[in-house]
Amino acid sequence: MSPRRVYLETFGCQMNELDSELVTSQLRALGYAFTREPGEAGVVLYNTCSVREHAEQKVWSRLGELALRKQQEPGLVVGVLGCMAEREGPALLKRMPVVDVMVGPGELDKLPALLDNAVKTKASLLDGAGDRERAAGGSAGQVALQGNTSRRSATLAAAADTLELLDLSRAVDPEGHSGSAYVRITRGCNKFCTYCVVPFTRGAEVHRPPEHILDECKRLADAGVREVTLLGQTVNHYRFEHGSAVSVNGVVQPQKGRVYKHAPGVFEDPYRGQSVTTFADLLHRIHEEVPAIQRLRFVTSFPRSFGDDVLGVIRQSPRICRYLHVPAQSGSDRLLQLMNRGYTVGEYFEFLDRARAFLHQPEIGRPLTVAGDIIVGFPTETQEDHEATADLIRRARYKNCFIFKYSPRPGTIAIDRFEDDVPEEVKRRRNNELLALQNEVSASVCAEFVGQTMDVFVQGVSKKHAKKAKRHAQSGAVALTIAGRTPGAPEDEPGAGAACSADGSHVHEDAPAAGTPQLSARTEGDVIVFFDCPPGSSPDDLVGTIRRVRITASGPLALFGALV
Ligand code: SAH
Ligand code: SF4
Ligand code: F3S
Repeated sequence: MSPRRVYLETFGCQMNELDSELVTSQLRALGYAFTREPGEAGVVLYNTCSVREHAEQKVWSRLGELALRKQQEPGLVVGVLGCMAEREGPALLKRMPVVDVMVGPGELDKLPALLDNAVKTKASLLDGAGDRERAAGGSAGQVALQGNTSRRSATLAAAADTLELLDLSRAVDPEGHSGSAYVRITRGCNKFCTYCVVPFTRGAEVHRPPEHILDECKRLADAGVREVTLLGQTVNHYRFEHGSAVSVNGVVQPQKGRVYKHAPGVFEDPYRGQSVTTFADLLHRIHEEVPAIQRLRFVTSFPRSFGDDVLGVIRQSPRICRYLHVPAQSGSDRLLQLMNRGYTVGEYFEFLDRARAFLHQPEIGRPLTVAGDIIVGFPTETQEDHEATADLIRRARYKNCFIFKYSPRPGTIAIDRFEDDVPEEVKRRRNNELLALQNEVSASVCAEFVGQTMDVFVQGVSKKHAKKAKRHAQSGAVALTIAGRTPGAPEDEPGAGAACSADGSHVHEDAPAAGTPQLSARTEGDVIVFFDCPPGSSPDDLVGTIRRVRITASGPLALFGALV
């Protein structure tokens, strides 16, 4: 165990993945090294999520295990970062004294100093004879949370917005990326959906200056990144007003979100291209000014105020992916109102139909792919509401949909206002029904791809093939080449098995012939495609590039094709 070796585990959403990457590069600059083995690490950090109780339970149980380990290794430093640190606050330290450092997502810029302090304090306690017991407890006090003195209430003119510097100082290592990267465009959220902790844990909505975003995209592109996903909780609400921008020491500061309300039936931002950078402007600028980014995506979209101006930019830009993640949450207007989502099912489909009319062009190999999120068992949900949600899933034709059982979260509006009155077994049954329905929809959406020719971004050797190659190598057989880059093989890679061919009959995924690596790739709509590496090519030539494939068969979660 080395005091400057860090194990960092990330829970939750893409925002957290990005935060973990930024924290990693900050700590590396301070001389910390990272390990994938918690047992080798002198510092264990969890970047946590609070969105559902289950996400928090995982962390509690990890911390419980660390408390035992710390009795043997009092020098161990334990840190809880992210949304759970912010939500729990000092109560977390009380319940888990094993924790030395706590940093909320709005204060991550402070982590390096706090961690360094904790490591040094621990070392000095251990140097002093007989202090093993004190060292084994947490060195509480290394805490940075937004709490009530949040950046939410401070004007963002406040010079000390060093959090922005965390994104700005991102170290981009040309060797250490997978070809894909996240770029934050908006922090926080002002929506206050009644079930959701995010506005409390991530603070107020703040838009980053477009120049910072463009600069980050350029630096990533220079380092070889070819796919960028822009991040925001309501990403399409991005807007930056230049007239009111404040600069401190020559650095333009991020800007508090001010929601621009579209007039009914008007889907253009009248300020587009003027003193405001709208989301449409931002997409257009990144597309035009950083052409080395061959795939530009964005998540998560909010179904309201999604203008034709944005859809128009996507349609005219070959490198912007025709992919939308646009959660509906429920198919019942009554529940959408209780959730404070601010739209009706009718308005949701007004948007989805409009988006499809602009962007769904399978005839040129560019279908629009849509993903969604649904909450089942929200308080007062009736069988009728549930059936309305099932109807929405049928009609929305999501490629995939994340379906979650409602989890009451302390501090949210819903936990105070509504009783969690849908019994667990009803939630479970409805959840399973919707999952089964979505599986059918996914399979049918995938089946529509068969016969199309489309561009795919090659990510790596498929996991299954990589495993096979390893077994061959271990058994003394001739070792096969495996793509040298960070394997981008998708986590949700489906197993072999039944797939659906063009005529609807069942075929079996061909096991790759020994020696023929199977590659995994993604369509612009984020659908996984497997294909065999053609004879005469090595995976290294293909990984990280965009290739054209003809889709020959489909399964419920993936497609199979061949290079053309
Ligand atoms: N900003 C995104 C969602 C971010 S949270 C949006 O508004 O679409 C990610 C997802 O977690 C949500 O879409 C929702 O489906 C789910 N979620 C949030 N709070 C939840 C809760 N209390 N219980 C169950 N699911 C929840
Ligand atoms: Fe949560 Fe709603 Fe904000 Fe999404 S838009 S992060 S669900 S409050
Ligand atoms: Fe979880 Fe926080 Fe993301 S609660 S979903 S990690 S914003």
